[in-house]
Amino acid sequence: TANAQWGGRFAGGPSAIMREINVSIGFDKVMWRQDIAGSLAHAAMLAKTGIISAEDEQAIRKGLTEIGHEIEAGTFVFEDALEDIHMNIEARLSERIGEPGKRLHTARSRNDQVATDFRLWVRDAIDGISAQVTALMHSLATRALEYADTVMPGFTHLQTAQPVTFGHHLLAYVEMLSRDHGRLADARKRLNECPLGSAALAGTSFPIDRKMTAAALGFDRPTANSLDAVSDRDFALEYLSALSIMAMHLSRLAEEIVIWCSAPFSFIRLSDAFTTGSSIMPQKRNPDAAELARAKVGRITGALISLLTVMKGLPLAYAKDMQEDKVPVFGATEAIALTLAACDGMVRDLTASKSQMQLFAGSGFSTATDLADWLVRVLKLPFRTAHHVTGRIVALAEAKGVDLSQLSLSDMQSVEPGITADIFSVLSVEASVASRTSEGGTAASNVKQQATSWLKKTAAH
Ligand code: ARG
Repeated sequence: TANAQWGGRFAGGPSAIMREINVSIGFDKVMWRQDIAGSLAHAAMLAKTGIISAEDEQAIRKGLTEIGHEIEAGTFVFEDALEDIHMNIEARLSERIGEPGKRLHTARSRNDQVATDFRLWVRDAIDGISAQVTALMHSLATRALEYADTVMPGFTHLQTAQPVTFGHHLLAYVEMLSRDHGRLADARKRLNECPLGSAALAGTSFPIDRKMTAAALGFDRPTANSLDAVSDRDFALEYLSALSIMAMHLSRLAEEIVIWCSAPFSFIRLSDAFTTGSSIMPQKRNPDAAELARAKVGRITGALISLLTVMKGLPLAYAKDMQEDKVPVFGATEAIALTLAACDGMVRDLTASKSQMQLFAGSGFSTATDLADWLVRVLKLPFRTAHHVTGRIVALAEAKGVDLSQLSLSDMQSVEPGITADIFSVLSVEASVASRTSEGGTAASNVKQQATSWLKKTAAH
């Protein structure tokens, strides 16, 4: 039999395959709250403008509210034959309240309906993910304050470069996440226009009030062009782009956690709550949560590429291709939410080994730059010359198998006669870190100040 909602001009029903490729209720039912909210706003507007009667609007309101309860209670029967969440709810409404239910779709199409529902869903998702990002920033800042003066090796090329503080390293991720948060906020601003009232593609001849529905649904204004409103999904793409960049950042944090807790590094220890054992090797403590957080970026970036590819080359206005917008967005949202939660748990629970970090902070001649800077500051050598002199001192230390601070004064003077015993004051990792007081530098005083300021900014989450 033909579809009850649109079957008027059909003699026969769709084939089983047609149904299967067409149906979206399996995934778009998660938008039921948004769909009901959109319909309530639409019905109220239809009544206010005199397009339907106040009694019809009351019946619709009551019916939709009860349908909401049915869905919440799990008693609502979702029908594949009704394709999607929009027609499932509308059909049920007519079943419950009769004629008024059949008036609800006046001056509306599923095209502006789905565009509205999906924007509402993505807006809610942005709010939820933003709150999680703030929570993770807060956890990172909390640990950064605790480890503000814990010295660790800073790397470039994953080779020991210069000592930094663990607090400074953690705050680097807070900065990245704050930009991720900002990208979501930007996307939300552009998203926040209401497509409802664009109807199928051309607008409607009914005297609707789009400002009223936009305001009722918390949008800043109605969208300006009906064709654009029903046929673009750039709001979802912006959201997925922001999530992809965020997931990339989290994968770097996760990778560092994996490295730091590996036995040869042993910089940190993850809690039992965020590690797993091996079925054969009894000694193992595997950082599976970090590895999965590192991997989720694949799924999330995949979602972005998937939707970009769906949208590429589509002619205006709506095409059914666009039904494929939801699965990537729902999947990426679930993946980022879990990744953020896992990162937050690991960060809150981890313990850092100050002694191990300190030990390796001093390896690999990590204070060579401090030595060169001393030659510039005290002996007034040009930096390029000081760099060369320091390189020869490093070679000497390496040949003798000692650290820079273990060389004797006369060893150093054999390379540069002007060097005095004062040089030793800059060769310790503590002195190196403490001297990096330039704005944004790693000195504990900077880290404490910045961690405190981030803790304040992220407090009300
Ligand atoms: N389920 C559809 C979607 O998600 C709703 C819009 C259907 N519109 C249409 N003209 N068939 O895109």
